[in-house]
Amino acid sequence: MNPAIIELKGVGKSFKSADGTARSVLEGVDFRLAEGEIVSLLGQSGSGKSTLLRILAGLVPVDAGDVRYREQPLFGPARGVSMVFQSFALFPWLTVQQNVELGLEARGVAPDDRARRAEAAISLIGLAGFEGALPRELSGGMRQRVGIARALVIEPEVLLMDEAFSALDVLTGERLREDILDLWTSRAMPTKAILVVSHNIEEAVLMADRVLVFASDPGRVRFQLAVQLPRPRDPESPEVRQLIDEVYALMTAGAGRIGRAPAEEPRLPLAARLPEADISRMEGLLEMLVDDRFEGHADLPRLAEETELTDDDLLPLAQAVALLRLARLEHGDLHITPLGQRYVEAENLLRQELFGQQLLAHVPLAAHIRHSLEQEPSGELPEEPFLRLLSETLDAAEAERVLRTAIEWGRHGEVFEYDYHTGLIHLPQGKDLAEPVA
Ligand SMILES: Nc1ncnc2c1ncn2[C@@H]1O[C@H](COP(=O)(O)OP(=O)(O)O)[C@@H](O)[C@H]1O
Ligand SMILES: [Mg+2]
Repeated sequence: MNPAIIELKGVGKSFKSADGTARSVLEGVDFRLAEGEIVSLLGQSGSGKSTLLRILAGLVPVDAGDVRYREQPLFGPARGVSMVFQSFALFPWLTVQQNVELGLEARGVAPDDRARRAEAAISLIGLAGFEGALPRELSGGMRQRVGIARALVIEPEVLLMDEAFSALDVLTGERLREDILDLWTSRAMPTKAILVVSHNIEEAVLMADRVLVFASDPGRVRFQLAVQLPRPRDPESPEVRQLIDEVYALMTAGAGRIGRAPAEEPRLPLAARLPEADISRMEGLLEMLVDDRFEGHADLPRLAEETELTDDDLLPLAQAVALLRLARLEHGDLHITPLGQRYVEAENLLRQELFGQQLLAHVPLAAHIRHSLEQEPSGELPEEPFLRLLSETLDAAEAERVLRTAIEWGRHGEVFEYDYHTGLIHLPQGKDLAEPVA
């Protein structure tokens, strides 16, 4: 085993939410970044990936556990670690050269040395000739290269990339990723380990020696998968496709379990994150699933290809239809259920009824809202108490998102209505609780 550069043991981190209560973001995280490896980190938004990176960089203290850099406890910013962010964070009034020199200046490097090293980093990342340019004169891809040059100029032992390719268009992101892998393979940079937070399963598999998937609430390592394929890797090769399938399967394994027989069903907690899924897209996905190409089942990578959706968009859709039992997730494949089949064949009115029925049966938050409204003589309630309830376990933005999703779904299933002007949720006019559709 290669020597560890950074090692976390049993790391926990909480943040105070707006109402002063502590919310656990990371719990029991064991992680080891060793010499010679590239690790990809996947996980839902809000699962604590960025927090983990800041902990590894020594920028955020932990509440529990142990953080070591080269076997020494880490108490402040780690000198050998550089970070690259999604937003380029360049100073608009400084030239490329000046932006890259900044980090060296902070480290007290003499001006001559600074200029020479910055030029070398700029040329390494393919921006020679642009030293005098201002950020606004550059394309997005070039700006991100400046961000990377700024990280590389200190010759870091560890490079942490937080969704560094996400803001770029696909081709630009791919090219930059390949350039970084070339630098890595050719050892043109002294960096000994790279950790990449990614939104894209294929990107993770193409880059990493090890893919780590984070679970949410609280964030922790859910599973990891070794990728022992030589680089450069061909995204179309059977080995790569197989691994991508495997990651999909593991990432959706939880949602698959929700789809089993009632007796073994783990009940979704009231304040669970709901997959952020748009209803017409869910319907589109179900319709695609039953058409001639798929005949009722398909693996998620194929669906991603056919729908041209990113993993971030497709996974919540698949999880949502599984949550409502319109489909079943199994080993990264999505299968239509008999109910889902009926749903696709139904007219809009019946679709809505089915949707409402499944919502009440399988999304406790929706059932709770409905039940609370029925207790009110006026049949209406402000949204605040529900938001407060969600904020006990979710942060404010997440609570808001979950309630928005529940309301969208509830409106579609005619389980309740929502007034955007008053923020009141109310029972649908002149409707009794949807009778179960036989
Ligand atoms: N400085 C902070 N103060 C309060 N809450 C924070 C802070 N940083 C992150 N959080 C919360 O911690 C959770 C995890 O955030 P983050 O690490 O950014 O997740 P990810 O990068 O996986 O999207 C989020 O709910 C976020 O709101
Ligand atoms: Mg993040």
